[in-house]
Amino acid sequence: MTPSSSPVIGIIGGSGLYQIDGLTDVSWRQVSSPFGAPSDALCFGTLEGTPVVFLPRHGRGHRVPPSEINFRANIDALKRAGVTDVLSVSAVGSLREDLPPGTFVVVDQFIDRTFAREKSFFGTGCVAHVSVAKPVCRRLGDAVMDACGDVTIAARRGGTYLVMEGPQFSSLAESELYRAWGCSVIGMTNMPEAKLAREAELCYASVAMVTDFDSWHPGHDAVTVDQVVSVMHANSGKARALVKNVVPRLGGHAGPCVHGCQRALDHALITAPEA
Ligand code: ADE
Repeated sequence: MTPSSSPVIGIIGGSGLYQIDGLTDVSWRQVSSPFGAPSDALCFGTLEGTPVVFLPRHGRGHRVPPSEINFRANIDALKRAGVTDVLSVSAVGSLREDLPPGTFVVVDQFIDRTFAREKSFFGTGCVAHVSVAKPVCRRLGDAVMDACGDVTIAARRGGTYLVMEGPQFSSLAESELYRAWGCSVIGMTNMPEAKLAREAELCYASVAMVTDFDSWHPGHDAVTVDQVVSVMHANSGKARALVKNVVPRLGGHAGPCVHGCQRALDHALITAPEA
């Protein structure tokens, strides 16, 4: 892709983040994609001079369940809207005692256990194998951690996000298995989102907001939607404050990502170009 000298920040808001505070010049616009319909129209605006595009992952009113999110259309629409940097926000369960509800985890790895989703922009006719060894952009992660510090959010850097298909929550045995694998948090939405962002040569970082202890914790009842929603409400002010603080930090950046996110396809295409 042509490196952008002026970043455009894409925010994918999950449960608990349905709007961006302080956004001016707001307009909701449908962006169509050959991959189908995104979860909703995109919300274009400006935050302290930096262009922002917001997409509610489940659509306004939370209508799209995880397995029916058209992740390809969402990422493609953001790319078409000029987005360079994607910050993904979602609610998750904790798989560790030291990550209690209310903690924000800036994850850096994923285990993808989803099985009913389209996972690539490539396929018959154009084969590519992109590296997702380091699926998260370190520059974005640094900015998120700095912004969490500014607004005194309890945040943890690093951790593995287990992405399950859902929609049911995990059994106790599954929860214990993922803990034994060393996972930190569990959710239903960051895959294939992160993989597709890499294929689209976008910088990507994920803020996982802990709402519950999933089903493993002997001192806590197994997770319910009521619990997720009530912690989410408490978290949503913090999530909005975080976004408001992180965008100006990212806006100061110019040129291509030093970590190479915008060159992800340089060594990934295997199909010979047509003569
Ligand atoms: N989202 C919030 N809490 C979750 C959990 N325990 N499992 C999967 N997704 C979640």
